[in-house]
Amino acid sequence: MTNTALQILAPDANGFRSAAAIMRAGGLVAFGTETVYGLGADARNDTAVAGIYAAKGRPSFNPLIVHLPSLAAAEEYCDFNDVARALAGAFWPGALTLVLPLRADAGISKLVTAGLDTLAVRVPDHAVAQGFLSEFGGPVAAPSANPSGRISPTTADHVIAGLAGKIDAVIDGGPCAVGVESTIVSCVDAPAILRAGGIPVEAITACLGRAVAQPDDPDTPQSPGQLASHYAPQGQVRLNAMHVEQGEVLLGFGAVSARLNLSASGDLTEAAAHLFDYLHQLDAMGATRIAVSPIPDHGLGRAINDRLKRAAAPRD
Ligand code: TXA
Ligand code: MG
Repeated sequence: MTNTALQILAPDANGFRSAAAIMRAGGLVAFGTETVYGLGADARNDTAVAGIYAAKGRPSFNPLIVHLPSLAAAEEYCDFNDVARALAGAFWPGALTLVLPLRADAGISKLVTAGLDTLAVRVPDHAVAQGFLSEFGGPVAAPSANPSGRISPTTADHVIAGLAGKIDAVIDGGPCAVGVESTIVSCVDAPAILRAGGIPVEAITACLGRAVAQPDDPDTPQSPGQLASHYAPQGQVRLNAMHVEQGEVLLGFGAVSARLNLSASGDLTEAAAHLFDYLHQLDAMGATRIAVSPIPDHGLGRAINDRLKRAAAPRD
């Protein structure tokens, strides 16, 4: 495929058919999900998957999540154990990614797993993602549809701003309702949370009825993609700001006066849905210094604080 003119496809049967045809020809299609927009390629096609890394400028050691329309489809590519089935039963379709042993006969490109013998799989809860995945009928490797290290996209406009000229099409699924990436749980050994995300840790623990290793526990396996600086806006970010210094723009939370308030009522779900869009808006405003109000570290607050910590981390 030539990736020059980016097609904007409607979220309907025609759009899904066009998108599936582009994917079969080895092209790249961005699509809306409930978490963030994904940049999809056929997970069995080495050249197509290589195209994802090239379009994003992504380090090639960072493996990708494979998206499927159902648990039954996911079972064709990896081995589920009881813990994985319990989590899939509770949270799929939804903002949960499971890391599981890759099946030898799965036919997944080694570029997707970055050579690991495990595979990350997710069944998204969004009509556009579902329509597209079902029409394509194969495994779709999809990272977030942003240039590597930049803010994740939660609208088709964010995708176009970051990747126009580098991908073939985007299916417009409207703004993402969850707004932060999926929670990643490894079920390869004892269950371990590799990345906080759209399903709160408390919900995972309640579902399994046992404590689950957390990303900052010293013996939790590291997700290869958890680079310190990530999700970065152009401006410098200062966290837990109780006041605004001269030259700073406030990204507020709760009862503070700010043009961009993640949730004036202190609702973490609303704050997650606004997070990346507001960081994009701060970029568009040309904000060079960003102060962020403290955000409670429970429920979706953990995923929000994880993304903000990376946004504030020193850059290369
Ligand atoms: O919500 C989401 O998860 C979005 C949408 C598009 O589904 N996708 C997303 O993908 O956030 P990405 O590529 O930005 O993040 C994938 C993360 C990376 O941190 C990567 O290292 C990790 O998943 N990952 C992928 N495969 C893995 C594996 N086999 N073992 C451990 N971590 C893995
Ligand atoms: Mg990403």
